[in-house]
Parts: sequence; structure tokens; C-alpha cells
Amino acid sequence: MNMDVIVSLSKRRGFIFQSSEIYGGTGSCWDYGPFGVELKNNIKRVWWRDFVQRRPDMVGLDASILMHPTVWKASGHIDNFTDPMVDCRECKRRFRADQVDERPWLHYCEAAKGNKFEIPAGETCQRCGARRTLCPECGKGELTAPRQFNLMFKTFMGPVEEDASVTYLRPETAQGIFVNFDNVLQATRRKLPFGIAQIGKAFRNEITPGNFIFRSREFEQMEIEYFVNPHDTVDGRPADEHAHDRWIEACRAWFEEYGLAPDHMRLHEHAGDELAHYAKRTVDILYQFPMGWSELMGIANRTDFDLKQHAKFSGKSLTWFDEDRKEQVVPYVIEPSAGVDRAFLAFLLDAYQEEEVRGEKRVVLRLHRELAPIKIAVLPLLKKRGEIVARGHALRDLLARRWTTVYDDTAAIGRLYRRQDEVGTPYCVTVDVKTVGDADKSEAGDGKVTIRERDAMEQLRVPMEALDGVFARLLDEGRAWGDIARDFPRAER
Ligand code: GAP
Repeated sequence: MNMDVIVSLSKRRGFIFQSSEIYGGTGSCWDYGPFGVELKNNIKRVWWRDFVQRRPDMVGLDASILMHPTVWKASGHIDNFTDPMVDCRECKRRFRADQVDERPWLHYCEAAKGNKFEIPAGETCQRCGARRTLCPECGKGELTAPRQFNLMFKTFMGPVEEDASVTYLRPETAQGIFVNFDNVLQATRRKLPFGIAQIGKAFRNEITPGNFIFRSREFEQMEIEYFVNPHDTVDGRPADEHAHDRWIEACRAWFEEYGLAPDHMRLHEHAGDELAHYAKRTVDILYQFPMGWSELMGIANRTDFDLKQHAKFSGKSLTWFDEDRKEQVVPYVIEPSAGVDRAFLAFLLDAYQEEEVRGEKRVVLRLHRELAPIKIAVLPLLKKRGEIVARGHALRDLLARRWTTVYDDTAAIGRLYRRQDEVGTPYCVTVDVKTVGDADKSEAGDGKVTIRERDAMEQLRVPMEALDGVFARLLDEGRAWGDIARDFPRAER
């Protein structure tokens, strides 16, 4: 897959726009358009339903983005959430020190009368043998020595801009969960193991954002902190290690259930020097993005690091009382942490297909029905016929009470179908002359409409009064199209 294809579809069909585009755009911030916001909400809704509402051992939380600044001291973000960066003394561009050799570099070659060449990443000049020492972007400036750059966005709380009022936009949602651990425990009387989930915005002043919504400065996370008693064992293994493996399996299975091909995902075990300062073990789920295998989400064993740190800095006890052993325990934490935007991108990439239908290119988003932005499109075969249009609007109003449904009569039927295919609408309902009849010819309508299924493009003729039941089976019960096709006659394409 080519990222440009997805970027172009996203803009054209209203999934994603560049933020503040009319002012030239804001670096690496994105706005989700009419279809994008539906898809994104569906991803979050399904994740919340599957990992919070359907599980007996999970509860939810929605913590504030601005938190007490000591949170970030305790969590280690003020001291450790940094990237080494270098600046060009000439053009003032800034690069991550560890990535500066991973990009092509501009070279004014002595051996070719100072002519300018772009040399591929990591290679030397074939004419003079030089290696890159200057700025890769302008080819002229020297780079400064690496300096640590904190990725948190700083701001001020209240009207006075002074050191005492400094606070940060949260770089992860996780800390909102840790500082509320005892509140949730007291309010819900939970026993270990149990988890707290949260979906929300996070902000990072990334030095090298890019690859569309893959790495941006404002993004959303879906995070779980799953608290486990480290003294317990399951199947002869420490309970935290056992829970870690279960969560890795559950997350991978979840992405597969909603559409990612199994061979487009792989696991990456962090080596010792890759591990974050708080982690005992971390496994990433990588996805085969167009720029290569990259992190879709991470599942970390954060041990008791965060709870102990917050207990130390706040002076409050953050423990759970083990009734059986009669002891206070600081739970270990397994943290499945997924980016909503990366999940969005992966689902979009995996769903995108181009195919040829009767000599014409068809672009279709084979999105899972639960994720599709629009579930049903009601389309009139002839928009000149008032009864057809009126019936179409009435059907849309009826179906929209339960499912996201649109009405569209702005093109001929073939074009209308293609438009719905391109945004992944699984079902189209077409109202035609046979549905409403023809009063001039004294012909009564049959009261039936055509339902077209997106993937096989099969069509069934269904009485209007059966629509509610048919879509309840398809969209609420998740029944296969084949089940429905047994009950109704095929319609001509
Ligand atoms: N609480 C743990 C944590 O934040 P992380 O690996 O830094 O761990 C978790 O982030 C997930 O958040 C990533 O796997 C990715 O999906 C998403 N994410 C992180 N930085 C991002 C960025 N700049 N843009 C978009 N998504 C990002």
C-alpha cells in the first residue's frame, strides 16, 4: 500500500483534513472529517465495549488532561521523557540525533565543482568518498552536540506565567489512572486482578512527526492499566507474567477480529536497552505500514514502579489489602496501550482495495461492519419521481433511529454505489419504480426495495417492512449476508 493513496482518499472523501489548512496547516496535527469522526468513534466504542463493558474485571475512567505537575516528576517524564536532538547552526533545523543518519543527505561535492547531490541514507559520496558530517537538509551547516529535548508540551495554569504555575499537557493517559488507583478501589471495592481503562488525548512535541497520522503531536490513546497481585501465581508462573501474555494475545486477536490480516501484524519483544525506565518486559504489536513494520501498540509490564513513585511523591498509600495473606500489596501493572490514530490508519490501510468491475476500477473499503462510518445508504433510482424520493427519505428516517444511515440522490445510481463503496458502507437500499408503482399507468408498487451488499455486490429484493429485522440481524447480531440471502430472492444487478 502506498500512503499517498490513503492520504488522498482521506482528504477527498472527508476522513482526515490537515489542521488549519486554510492558514497553511499546523505541523502534524490532523482534523477528522465527517466520515473520519464516525470511524474513529466506532473504533473507540468497540474497544470500550469489548475491553471494558464486556469484561467483569474492568472499569473505566476519564481523567483530566491537565494534572498536578508533580505527577510528571513522579512518573519520570520530566527527567526521562526526552529525545537527544541536534540543531543545524546554519538553517536551524532540528533532528533526532539517533535518526540523523537514517535520512538522505545533501552534499556539495568538492570533486564535482561544488555541485549539489542527494546521497541515500547511510551511504558515502561515490565521487569523493565523503561521509555526512554537516546538516543533511541544507548540506552546509554544522550540527550542534546532542542535547536532551523534553517531549512534553509546557503551559501555565492560571493568569500568571511564572514557574510556580507551570503544568504540562499529558503525554500519556496512563498517569490519570495511576493517581486515581485508590479512588477507584475505594469506590468499587475491586479485588485483584482488575483493570482500569481510559480513552483520551495525549500530546507530545515530537521532533520528527510524520507518516500522516502515524506520528503526530496531538493524538488519542486507548490505555488499560491492569493491576495484578505479584505474589500470586497462575499455572506455576508469576501472575503478572501470565497476565502479560494473556493481554498480548487478547490485543492481537482484537485487531484481527476487526479486520487486520494476521500476516500484516507481528510481535516485537523489546531488548534490554530498548525498555522504558519503568518496564520489566514490553512487547509491541507491529503493523506492516507503508513505511515498513512499525509500532501499532505496546503491551508493557510496568511492575509496581508507578504506584510506588506516586505513593512516594504524594505521601498517600497506594496499596491493596490481601485478605488471604493479611498483607498490604503494591500491585504490578500490565499496560496494553494503543493509539487510536494508528489503529485508524491500520484499519483503513487493510480495508482499502482496488478491483476491476465490468471494465471499470472500483475502490472499496472492506471495513468491518462495526467500524464502517455509515452502515446503510438509502438511494433513489430516479430522483425525478417524487414518490421515490419521499419513500427514500422516509426509509432513511426510519433506519437512522437505529443505525447510521444517509440518503443520497446527487448522482446516477452507479456513481452512488461507487461513492458508498469508497467509504466502506456495507449496505445500500435502493428505492425504484417497482417499489412505489406508477399511478399514471395504474400500477401498484410491490413495496419492496433492493439491498446491495458491498463486498460481493449481491442484491436482494426485500419488503420494506422487513428492513428493520434484516438490519438487526446483519448489524446488531452480526449475522452473515449468506444467512439473509437464503430468505429473500436475488435482485438483478
Ligand atoms: N503509556 C504508555 C505509552 O504511552 P507509548 O509506546 O509511548 O506508551 C503507546 O505509546 C501508543 O500510543 C503507541 O503504541 C502508539 O500507538 C501511540 N502513540 C504514541 N506516540 C504517538 C504519536 N506521536 N502519534 C500517534 N500515536 C502515538
